[in-house]
Amino acid sequence: MKRNVFKGLKFLMGLFQKQVTVIHNVNVGSVYYKLGIFYPELAQVVKPGQFVMIRPSHASIPLLRRPFSVHKLVIERGKTLGIELLYKVVGKGTKAMSEMKAEDDIDVLGPLGNGFSCLQKANSVFLVAGGVGVAALYCLAVHLGKYKGVIQTVFLGGCSASDILCEKEFQALGIEVHISTEDASVGKAGLVTTAFEKFLEAGGERPDIIYACGPQAMMKAVGVIAGAYDIPCQVSLESEMACGFGVCLGCAVKRAKGEGGYFHVCSDGPVFDFKKVEL
Ligand SMILES: Cc1cc2nc3c(=O)[nH]c(=O)nc-3n(C[C@H](O)[C@H](O)[C@H](O)COP(=O)(O)OP(=O)(O)OC[C@H]3O[C@@H](n4cnc5c(N)ncnc54)[C@H](O)[C@@H]3O)c2cc1C
Ligand code: FES
Repeated sequence: MKRNVFKGLKFLMGLFQKQVTVIHNVNVGSVYYKLGIFYPELAQVVKPGQFVMIRPSHASIPLLRRPFSVHKLVIERGKTLGIELLYKVVGKGTKAMSEMKAEDDIDVLGPLGNGFSCLQKANSVFLVAGGVGVAALYCLAVHLGKYKGVIQTVFLGGCSASDILCEKEFQALGIEVHISTEDASVGKAGLVTTAFEKFLEAGGERPDIIYACGPQAMMKAVGVIAGAYDIPCQVSLESEMACGFGVCLGCAVKRAKGEGGYFHVCSDGPVFDFKKVEL
């Protein structure tokens, strides 16, 4: 218990909790929204793969903040104003978020978590996204785009065409995009993991590292495929979170077999080397 309180205090000292304002909150199709948050100080320090815990300041629901990956920075006329989140409405908290308007107050805690670590000498990188998991990976793609010569390939998957997000944004960065949908409404029919595995089997370029974000079962599938080809793989995990900084123990994930014990997704992750966790 003592260890957790200490861990929590350590995190609190290094993060920002603030009431800030909404810049924009727009529907981008179906149940997906983009929320811009005015918070220049946070935008200056945040890393790809980190997240924030948020809630509308004056709403009674949700009581607890909800976790969201940073999707991109909001930059206007050369000035960094804040961050943008890309979110899917799935329950009460996200429904309340979808009703927010520009200038509304919002409670933000962050940046939280570790973020992706980038291989210094990676020439080729694969990004594998399931649905709204693309939010964190787009942020990473923009970051990797700053390194000359890194070739990125992205695999986007979802249940249906409406779940395929950011295709044009990736293309605008010069990134090759492969799409799969379970109902075959766009791209290849089937799971994104199948498309990604077939690409490797067909002798397509082998990446130096794979970054993945999406539902846990998908993270396991990507990690297993990466292991079969001996490619390092970082997975960004989603779990329900109450505090977001290592105190409530609500986000435990098992350490890999043989190591024993648990990680906290919020403070040890959300990004893990796939070999270090048991999913
Ligand atoms: C580190 C991290 C980053 C995330 N980034 C994003 C993001 O960029 N965009 C986005 O849309 N979502 C993201 N999520 C998921 C998001 O936090 C949940 O969808 C949100 O908390 C649901 O809140 P709610 O009140 O609307 O749903 P609730 O009413 O609490 O639950 C509705 C349903 O969603 C499920 N659910 C709730 N929380 C989670 C969760 N954390 N993970 C998986 N399933 C959950 C519940 O089991 C339930 O079935 C992230 C989660 C984590 C842990
Ligand atoms: S320990 Fe509270 S959310 Fe991780």
